[in-house]
Order: sequence, then structure tokens, then C-alpha cells
Amino acid sequence: MRPTPPPRTYRVKSFGCQMNVYDGERMAELLAEQGIQPAPEGEEADLVVLNTCHIREKAAEKVYSDIGRLRRADGTAPLIAVAGCVAQAEGEEIMARAPSVSMVVGPQAYHRLPAMISEAVAGLRSVDTDMPTETKFDALPARRKVGPSAFLTVQEGCDKFCTYCVVPYTRGAEVSRGFNELVDEAKKLVEAGAKEITLLGQNVNAWRDDMGRGLEKLIEALAAIPELARIRYTTSHPADMTQALLNAHRDVPKLMPFLHLPVQSGNDRVLKAMNRSHTAASYLAILERVRAVRPDIALSGDFIVGFPGETDAEFEDTLRLVEQVGYAQCFSFKYSARPGTPAATMDGQVAPALMDERLQRLQAALNRTQLAFNQASVGKRCLVLVERKGKYDGQWLGKSPWLQSVHFTGDAAIGDLVEVELLEAGANSLSARLV
Ligand code: SAH
Ligand code: SF4
Ligand code: F3S
Repeated sequence: MRPTPPPRTYRVKSFGCQMNVYDGERMAELLAEQGIQPAPEGEEADLVVLNTCHIREKAAEKVYSDIGRLRRADGTAPLIAVAGCVAQAEGEEIMARAPSVSMVVGPQAYHRLPAMISEAVAGLRSVDTDMPTETKFDALPARRKVGPSAFLTVQEGCDKFCTYCVVPYTRGAEVSRGFNELVDEAKKLVEAGAKEITLLGQNVNAWRDDMGRGLEKLIEALAAIPELARIRYTTSHPADMTQALLNAHRDVPKLMPFLHLPVQSGNDRVLKAMNRSHTAASYLAILERVRAVRPDIALSGDFIVGFPGETDAEFEDTLRLVEQVGYAQCFSFKYSARPGTPAATMDGQVAPALMDERLQRLQAALNRTQLAFNQASVGKRCLVLVERKGKYDGQWLGKSPWLQSVHFTGDAAIGDLVEVELLEAGANSLSARLV
């Protein structure tokens, strides 16, 4: 690589989960601290960070086409850093396949970006996929301006080793950040404009501090921050869902009535082959328990169709579970064989056409339950946190307590909590009027 002038502008593009979005924000803050400015909309940046996701093949392959697209007509390219989970999983391969990339940095090492940029400016390429004992959080600058709804990573990594999943390899073992450090960061986020904080973790409900306090204690502490109006958390694993955390949905008014609890399949044989530590029945029992303490809770989940060996009848069990739960939201995916995971070499890989068909049937069922949930909300009054302007003049978009997208017109501003009456429901949003 030839030496290049130090970058003056950057762009961070994040893919994948909310934890990657959070990491992308932190990298942006780190670059800004180095005096590098965000590139204006529509203009090319001197430095591009591709913050990648490895969860499914499509997501992982996307990075190479994105790198190709950064090449200019004259054959040159901006400084390119590949971060995120593809960086962690395929560091050396990226270096070999994509000569225009000068930096590869894993999700636990991105606080070292400034030093890597200096090397890149000198014409050197570098890979850093360490999972260092020092935590990146200590090295990152304080939070600056944030929107009304902010993310806060409290837990990282995964020890669950579901047989289809790369996360335990790309993000490492489960680690919880400290209680005081998190309360401090939450206060900074609130000072920077946050009205709502979503606590993030690959297994957020596995969060536990060295005094044995669970996530509900952290939620209680954040609820004591006066200007913070709302608290959410995601993603939870059924195995770590304690009664104490469920009770927080009854006892902490600022904790919103929403639970994202992935189930993946409604069939026990498939769940076992996936190494999920729950059955359909034990999963449903958790939902019963949370509904007992918070009857209006909105439920959300993740599903995989076409796991190796999944039969028609086993897939039907998933459809049945969906009808039974009545989800308010969901994510559903075709199984994607990931290198190095046990499921990738299992017998009975399902044909792509059959996966397509199952996904369509599942999504139709999920759309129905989602629409039904939204329709049942019509006529309710609730607070909406205004997050941005809508498409039309005077229109605003925000979220209900149940995480529904709500739009209305009238006198409001971003960051307001306004009371509305919900008027009309679609599968993905509701209209409302100010009251
Ligand atoms: N830790 C979370 C989710 C992490 S990944 C949990 O266990 O719930 C987000 C979702 O991606 C998973 O819930 C799963 O539905 C999906 N997913 C993960 N690996 C996948 C794979 N190999 N193919 C298809 N979907 C996958
Ligand atoms: Fe992946 Fe399972 Fe861990 Fe979720 S719990 S991140 S699906 S291994
Ligand atoms: Fe993707 Fe990594 Fe998140 S693989 S889903 S970005 S933890």
C-alpha cells in the first residue's frame, strides 16, 4: 500500500444486530475524537468503516461486494477498515481477498483503531482480532449527542453454542460490564439527549455483576435517573429468564411492556438438535409467567426455518406455536450453514426451495398475529416517544410502549413523549391522533 494523507472525513456503515449499531456509534465517537469529521451526506469519505455481520452467509458475503463498490473510477479507493463479526471470523481471508482493505479490526479491539489508522496512513496494513483483557470500554471517549432512543451494551458474547450460530466464535465468551460503569454511561446518554435506553447483549438477561446482581437490579438503578423515561432490553435467552427479571415488568413502571425472547422452533427434536436448552413447553411457560405479571406485554421472537433434518410435521409445530403465542413482532430466517458450526455438517440439509416455501408460510402466519396484535391496540391511549419526522408535512414517527411504530400529525418535536389515541392498524404500524 502507498502512504496516504491522514483522513479528514469518515463514514461508518453498520450491518447486523443492534450491538453492531452500538459499536458503530462508539467507533464514530472515537474517530471524531481524533479530529476526523463525519462525511457530509452524498459525499465520499476519506475513511470508510464497514462494520460487518457474519450471522448468515448473505450478510457475510456482502462485505466483499461493498468493498468493490468503494473503488473509484481511477482505480483508487478510500481508506477501508473492516470491523465487526466478519472481521473477527475471516480477518486474514479479507486481507488476502481484498487488497484495498488496509485495516481489519474485531469487535473487542476497535478501540485500537486510531493506531491502525496511523499505520494505514504510513502505507501499512494491519489485522487486530484480539480479545484483549483490557476492555475497549475504558479506552473509548464519553458519549456525545444521541437521539431520544439510545443503545447501551451491557453484556457481550455468548456461551450457549446453539449448533447453527457463529456468535460464540465471533464475539467470544459471555462478559458483563460493571454496574457503576453502566449507570455512569446511562447518565451520560441521558445528558446527551436520550429519553429511552435499550440495554443490549447477545444474551442480555445473562447480565450479572460481580456481586451477583441480575439485570433487574440494573434496570431499577437506571429507573432512578429522573430524566430517563423508558427502559428496554434485548436479546434475552429463555435459559436466563429469571422470575426477578419478569417481576420487573410489574414493579418498574419505566420498563416497557415488551419482551423479545427468541424460540427458533416450535418442535422439541429440532430444539434439541439446535442445542437450545428449552422445549416448546418450557418456552411457553415463561410467556405465561410474564403475562401473569404484565398482561399487556408485547411478545417478540426469532425463528429459523429449514434447520437440518426439519420435517414438514416439525415445521408445522412452529406454525402452531406462532398461532398460540400471538406475537407482536418477529424475525424469521432461512437456516444458513455457517463454517465451523456443528449444524453445517449435519445430515438432512434442507433444499433452498423448501426453505423458501416454509419461510413464506411462517411469515404469513407472523403477519397475521402481528396485525391482530396491532388491531387489538386500536382505541387505546398511550404515550409515544417521538423519534423522527414522517414523510408528510407535520407528520411524526415514534414508538408506543409496545414498540409499535406510530405516526401522527400535529404539534410535537423529536424527543417528546406525547399522549395519543391509536386509530388504525396495519401489520407494521399504526396511525394515531394527539389527545
Ligand atoms: N443471541 C440471540 C440472537 C443472536 S442472532 C438469541 O439467541 O436469541 C439473531 C438471530 O439470528 C437468532 O435468534 C437466529 O434466529 C438467527 N440466526 C442465527 N444463526 C443463524 C443461522 N446460521 N441461520 C439462520 N439464522 C440464524
Ligand atoms: Fe447464537 Fe444461540 Fe448464542 Fe443466540 S444463544 S447468540 S443463537 S449461540
Ligand atoms: Fe451479526 Fe455479529 Fe450481531 S454476527 S448479528 S453482528 S453479533
